[in-house]
Amino acid sequence: MNIKIAPSMLSADFANLERDLKEVEKSGADFLHVDIMDGHFVPNITMGPDQVAQIRKKISIPFDVHLMISEPLKYINQFADAGADIITVHVESEGDIQACIDTIVKKGVKPGLVLSPDTPLKVLEPYLDQIKMVLIMCVYPGFGGQSYLSGCTQKIRECRKMIGSRAIDLEIDGGINFNNLKEVVDAGANVIVSGSCLFKGEIQKNMKRFRKIIEE
Ligand code: DX5
Ligand code: ZN
Repeated sequence: MNIKIAPSMLSADFANLERDLKEVEKSGADFLHVDIMDGHFVPNITMGPDQVAQIRKKISIPFDVHLMISEPLKYINQFADAGADIITVHVESEGDIQACIDTIVKKGVKPGLVLSPDTPLKVLEPYLDQIKMVLIMCVYPGFGGQSYLSGCTQKIRECRKMIGSRAIDLEIDGGINFNNLKEVVDAGANVIVSGSCLFKGEIQKNMKRFRKIIEE
């Protein structure tokens, strides 16, 4: 399987954002993972569509926009206009998940659904034939640098089974590092988000190490 890597911008040095994101691009990353937090759905705040649009002008790899916001439906059009290529919405957020998917599709963006650690896979069932990505959170959303919750490996395995032959990416986010990367890939994840591990030290070197582990 072709494994894609999506560095999470949350761990970049925001005072040197252009420098760090150019490094991400040079390292051959498949997506830029952009975490949007509203201080309500999660206890942290990042940025809005205007900032995403500015960054978009400088960075050309696809943007994977992870909405950790209470009312995603209100903002989907703005994030799509800002240049998102994929938009993922938490199933635990307020509002109509079907309407979110429809709105994302209408904008020509790939729709995905995110599950927080305590949310069971069965909530995905009604949407499986409409989405292009499932994102399984392996930490409680809100902050980078947390530890991987070990129960997630089994959830990844079951989700891969549930996806079957559908063309849906299985993305995982939270606590991924050199030590557990192999385990999650073997369980069936094919899009790997990593923040603190990839941005610590030299991004290009870390990406090479990720690729090497994946190829083993
Ligand atoms: C957490 C975010 C993640 C975070 C991952 O809520 O969704 O994308 O940046 O960071 P690490 O890899 O440090 O756990
Ligand atoms: Zn994320």
